[in-house]
Amino acid sequence: PGQQMWGGRFSEATDSFVAAFTASVGFDQRFARHDIEGSIAHATMLGKCDILSSDDVTTIIDGLKKVLAEIEAGEFQWSIALEDVHMNVESRLTDIIGPVGKKLHTGRSRNDQVATDIRLWLREETDNIIALLVRLQSGLLDLAEQHTDTIMPGFTHLQTAQPVSFGHHVMAWFEMLFRDTERLVDARRRINQLPLGSAALAGTTFPIDRTITAELLGFEGICQNSLDAVSDRDFAIEFTSAASILMMHLSRMSEEIILWMSAQFNFVQIPDRFCTGSSIMPQKKNPDVPELVRGKAARVFGQLMTLLSLMKSQPLAYNKDNQEDKEPLFDCVDTLTGSLLAFADMLPNITPNKENMRAATMKGYATATDLADYLVRNGVAFRDAHEVVGNAVALGIKESVDLSDLSLAQLKQFSDAIGDDVFEFLTLEGSLAARDHLGGTAPNQVKQAVSRARTRLEVF
Ligand code: ARG
Repeated sequence: PGQQMWGGRFSEATDSFVAAFTASVGFDQRFARHDIEGSIAHATMLGKCDILSSDDVTTIIDGLKKVLAEIEAGEFQWSIALEDVHMNVESRLTDIIGPVGKKLHTGRSRNDQVATDIRLWLREETDNIIALLVRLQSGLLDLAEQHTDTIMPGFTHLQTAQPVSFGHHVMAWFEMLFRDTERLVDARRRINQLPLGSAALAGTTFPIDRTITAELLGFEGICQNSLDAVSDRDFAIEFTSAASILMMHLSRMSEEIILWMSAQFNFVQIPDRFCTGSSIMPQKKNPDVPELVRGKAARVFGQLMTLLSLMKSQPLAYNKDNQEDKEPLFDCVDTLTGSLLAFADMLPNITPNKENMRAATMKGYATATDLADYLVRNGVAFRDAHEVVGNAVALGIKESVDLSDLSLAQLKQFSDAIGDDVFEFLTLEGSLAARDHLGGTAPNQVKQAVSRARTRLEVF
């Protein structure tokens, strides 16, 4: 009664609402190219193992290429009655080449087929995302290199803490993104494993050779257990988890750009092409791109929760629940890719307002720790030095001047250990230059960090 491929044992047609409710073709047609690539490899393997004749295999592969051409030309008629991308492609194949097309599904199930499609697709998207990350990071290295000597206030608690190099701050962003890239590269290894050959859940009675299929599809390994291969989506959860951490980083960077663009901070400008105006307030230039990226991080976190929740109660092996893995994963990939595209162009093109950053650094007694360290070098215990400098800062606040504006006599009243060489340690340049060790903000250290980073980036 049913026109479905599996209609043999049914005595009435599927309810039309149920057909629409259970169909996934509306979204999984995004896998068409990968589905066909997987089918071509599967058919080739069946031929090599003498499960199908080489004539049949040639006919099937030619037909699959025609189906792909129709899809790419936008001429393909997708049918909800055929449920998903897999059965749409197979049905059209049989239309084109005749009954031989019905042999393609030998030794295979949609369960191992869909798991293969997701992995092929996600592998490609992961590579694209890694390439965008590398582009963004190399742009940040150029920016950091130009600004090893640009001074800004470093913050803790968003209160002025110590002077830092703007290039050093940019290199902190680089490090976050570098770990994100490593996480994705690592996740890619577990994405890149072949489920095909697991069939529905238990394997197949045909003498297949999965190493052939794995090699044809460029998988670096083969899923070792058929029950696990068709059912787990942990590789997608792992990707989404790495994507969430990455979006969390992009969101932190966004927050800084947004703050820094305000008239009150006035630390950076971002190019007009990444901003929008207000329909009522003529003076406005709003940082919409970073604001949106900050907002979009929430979506990706949500998709991670969706996938974890989707997986958590499923008994082995495949369950239809897993059809719900696709839309969250697509949304995660699209949101992340869009955010990275925007960032790769925007972030390396921010311009620091050097004068203003410098003026801001002069405001919050950023060199107080330098004075304390100076006292320690002259024999004062650090806790005592802390107290001395606290008193000096209190005087500065009372007189509305920086530590470097107090006279030697004023400073000496707090400690005998202060000599006339003290002022060189109270300058912003002196403060930066003094932090001269691996990981420190001294401009020459930042230069070396940039050059090491260029080499590190080459592994991706
Ligand atoms: N559309 C299905 C999915 O996305 C394909 C696998 C269907 N398998 C099945 N036994 N109904 O998961």
